[in-house]
Amino acid sequence: MEIDFEQRKTHSCGELTAKENGKEVFIKGWVDRRRDLGQLIFIDIRDRKGKTQVVFDPSRNSETHAKAGELRNEYVISVRGTVGKRLEPNTKISTGEIEVLADELRILNPSETPPISINEDGGENEDIRLKWRFLDLRRPFMQRNMLFRSKVMQETRKLLSAEEFAEIETPILMKSTPEGARDFLVPSRVNPGKFYALPQSPQTYKQILMVAGYERYFQIAKCFRDEDLRADRQPEFTQIDCEMSFVNAEEIYDTFGGFVTKLFKNVMGIDIPPIPRMTYEEAMEGYGCDKPDLRFDMKMVDFSEILKSSGFKVFDSVLETEGGAVKGIKAEKCADFSRKVMDDLTEFVAGYGAKGLVWLKVTENGLEGPSAKFLKPEILAELQNEADATVGDVIFIIASTRKVVNVALGQLRLEIAKRKNLMKKDQFVFTWVTDFPMFEYSETDKRWSSTHHPFTAPLDEDVSLLYSPEYYFARAKAYDIILNGNEIGGGSIRIHQAGLQSKIFELLGIKPDEARLKFGFLLDAFKYGAPPHGGIAFGLDRLVMIMLGLDSIRDVIAFPKTASACSLMDESPSNVDSQQLDELGIALKK
Ligand code: AMO
Repeated sequence: MEIDFEQRKTHSCGELTAKENGKEVFIKGWVDRRRDLGQLIFIDIRDRKGKTQVVFDPSRNSETHAKAGELRNEYVISVRGTVGKRLEPNTKISTGEIEVLADELRILNPSETPPISINEDGGENEDIRLKWRFLDLRRPFMQRNMLFRSKVMQETRKLLSAEEFAEIETPILMKSTPEGARDFLVPSRVNPGKFYALPQSPQTYKQILMVAGYERYFQIAKCFRDEDLRADRQPEFTQIDCEMSFVNAEEIYDTFGGFVTKLFKNVMGIDIPPIPRMTYEEAMEGYGCDKPDLRFDMKMVDFSEILKSSGFKVFDSVLETEGGAVKGIKAEKCADFSRKVMDDLTEFVAGYGAKGLVWLKVTENGLEGPSAKFLKPEILAELQNEADATVGDVIFIIASTRKVVNVALGQLRLEIAKRKNLMKKDQFVFTWVTDFPMFEYSETDKRWSSTHHPFTAPLDEDVSLLYSPEYYFARAKAYDIILNGNEIGGGSIRIHQAGLQSKIFELLGIKPDEARLKFGFLLDAFKYGAPPHGGIAFGLDRLVMIMLGLDSIRDVIAFPKTASACSLMDESPSNVDSQQLDELGIALKK
């Protein structure tokens, strides 16, 4: 039978082994590397599954051999040949036992010399990688990342569908959402002077879907936020967005703790132990932040009681002041830190407002350090006991306002973990952080705003607080899920009663008219039988980044933006022509 040589591909470039020895195969892909060894030409041919070595031997076919002389990196080729065992197997690649002895070669498309080499990973400035993204994406590193991401998305759909979550799409052109970042706006040509906003999340729509009776919704949703960018933030990112009716927070923890646990098992074969929980308050007091990295311990210990009236001026003066605290951490096996390291750490915590850092090394002779002489032996012994420290450990202590102590010690904890290499990329430690405060104060805007968003329900026991002058102490049924010190998801149980919702708007300084204007449709929907509901959204990009042990979400997004929100490959954002602006009724300010 006549074979259409250009169409056929019998094997991928990653699957041939000694089992296929002697077989005729057709493979296609990109020239990864070419070596001319006198008579013989060796080509590594690559596709998304791997690489295969192809040998062009003039004694086998002189015409094919001559053609192979034309090949350069990144040419797209098709080879017909016979599998042979290699004399010297390459144990580093899956096809290392064999090579293909070429009988026929077709060049499907030549390539110019690429500006970045595909067969070497990275190295160059990231802007260069982003400019030539179509080549960067061809690299095995990026292909692994993108294919892994695809698997996570497919598994997500499988797992949530199995739990009867319905996948429902919501609009990209919508009314502004209340997630708290700046909106990206899209002018409407047919409604001159009016704008859509791109969704910061599908928050309002998913709540409406609950009112509409869908009970369980999910969507792998694109979200857009015009905010300052960092390694774990993009202006355009993806959420696994979920909402459920008739649930309380417990059921959310069970359902979505179960979801991530199964995701890790199914995608990576990793068993995640039951996910612990701590309140926001416990997280702040124990770890100085609301996303504690629990791959290592170093929990803060409050020494305020022990050090009350210790006679050491630094501590006494802080503890005599309202709101002062003295807390510490035990850094295991850090007694080898030099004086220089201690000085560096002191400077480090100064950056977080701590005026000093007391350190006490635990030695055979008790606690030693520059401040030890100011403390009585029995107090030193109590400190060691309270910190549960043994010989070789160091106790670091900071005295200041509770807020400064928590933040500075929390950061010190992370800094020490970094220096001691305690943040292992192949370890995955989750925690829920619950009961976030309802409100947070913005120093810039001089007003209280929602910590999560205005539809978040208060804890039942704190509802009465909302009607008192101390309403800002109220806590919310809001939670984050933390993985290795990163917030990978967050959500809340929502308010579903119109009266309580109005009260929250009032406390946030949102006037009834303004609330109507912004969320009238949601408030209306709530009048017609809104079930109790709640949900969560996972940051898919962050989740995939951590699963792969990477540091930048740009490495798990096919076409990401730079820190200045540009796409270097297609050069967006870009100018538009004046006719387009005219049609939209827009004039640019000079
Ligand atoms: P939230 O604003 O906490 O909640 O977002 C949920 C998760 O999305 C991820 N994330 C981001 N990832 C990349 N780049 C960004 N700019 C970015 N911003 C957020 C984080 C975060 O935990 N509607 C609510 C969810 C709910 O209440 O159900 C929401 O969007 O991993």
